[in-house]
Amino acid sequence: MKKVLVIGSGGREHAIVDALSRSPQVEKIWCAPGNAGIARQAECVPIKDTDVSALLAFALEKGIDLTVVGPEAALAAGVADSFRDAGLKVFGHSKSATRIESSKEFAKILMERYDIPTAGYRSFDNYGKALEYVSGRPFPAVLKYDGLAAGKGVVIAENLQEADEALKEMLLDDAFGKGKVVVEDYLCGPEFSFLCFVSGSDVYPMPLSQDHKRAFDGDKGPNTGGMGAYTGLPFITEEDREFALEKIMKRAAAAMVAEGCPLSGVLYGGLMKTPQGIKVIEFNARFGDPETEVVLPLLQSDVYDIFEAVACGKEPQQQLKWKDEVTVGIVLASKGYPGKYEKGFPILGAEDRDAIVYHMGTSRGADGSLLTAGGRVLIVVCSGKTVAEAHAKATAEAERINCPQLFHRNDIAHWAL
Ligand code: AMP
Ligand code: GLY
Repeated sequence: MKKVLVIGSGGREHAIVDALSRSPQVEKIWCAPGNAGIARQAECVPIKDTDVSALLAFALEKGIDLTVVGPEAALAAGVADSFRDAGLKVFGHSKSATRIESSKEFAKILMERYDIPTAGYRSFDNYGKALEYVSGRPFPAVLKYDGLAAGKGVVIAENLQEADEALKEMLLDDAFGKGKVVVEDYLCGPEFSFLCFVSGSDVYPMPLSQDHKRAFDGDKGPNTGGMGAYTGLPFITEEDREFALEKIMKRAAAAMVAEGCPLSGVLYGGLMKTPQGIKVIEFNARFGDPETEVVLPLLQSDVYDIFEAVACGKEPQQQLKWKDEVTVGIVLASKGYPGKYEKGFPILGAEDRDAIVYHMGTSRGADGSLLTAGGRVLIVVCSGKTVAEAHAKATAEAERINCPQLFHRNDIAHWAL
């Protein structure tokens, strides 16, 4: 029986812990640092997800058989490299492979070199040159800071003034640190997420999903980390999926092998179905959040088997099997999010729902009551034979959770309703 450590503290990690807890091979799960919901299925340890030496010392002390890394910050801090150097099995890419997410320029050069469809681009480290280039092109202009910027490094500028402000912030004020800016062609079409388990050039696809980034119904309001997601996308044909798998995901995996930095974890394609075909908007080197919360509940196979196979660079013992159902997940967020919000409000009725409830940002009060502890707080996930059925169930269950300081969208999966 196996001992597993999961690194991270959000809904994504709750879904990973939940999937692992269904594995017949798993004896005990720890999660660093975890949250109040995860604590019902794993032992939480108060170690920060980027504290590589403390995580390693913990894993060695407990004799952990396999570590699963959730957040990109932990990968970019080199957690997977340190664990592998110490002879431990880890599901998560090396720091070098994580560049497919952490450096926009690395990803763009890779896509150009290996003929992976994406928007045309140029990169700049000089403010004046960047501004001159943007001035001579049509708007909107897409400006991307070349590094991890906690989801704030992309600006779609509608006019020269907006572009100028963003370029100043990124290249003169070094708002996210010293770095370059990638200026990209503006594309349009529906976006979707393609998560795959990747071990070198072997790619094992998960069901497609779609995230909803804007805070309010009708895709209005500020951008967030994601207010909900669903599977069962009506606008992607089998042909589209095959194209995305063969010409994007498998090609990217092979490209990373050829570049000497093979992937060993999840490759997340943030894709767009444009009138000119499917193109890459971005790659991420990790499970998506909230996509993971709607995808992993559909996995019928033993998740430990696939995590271990990827970590060891061998084939999984069984072909991955997925339920023939679809899912809808609705995020309950603190009022004010993604701007300022307060924490510490009691939540009633989250723990006896006829739904999966993953915790994204919660804690426990001294009396054991469940409290809000983040911007995104909970995600309620329901499945069904159709998106409409799953949506109706998830909405009803989300509304039974009682906390006046939380809000949610009512139109998650609107593309499919
Ligand atoms: P990224 O962090 O690269 O995913 O960008 C954040 C969001 O900006 C994406 O989810 C898209 O909605 C939008 N975006 C990024 N690149 C482009 C592009 N080339 N054309 C249009 N929209 C884009
Ligand atoms: N759902 C968006 C992300 O995980 O980056």
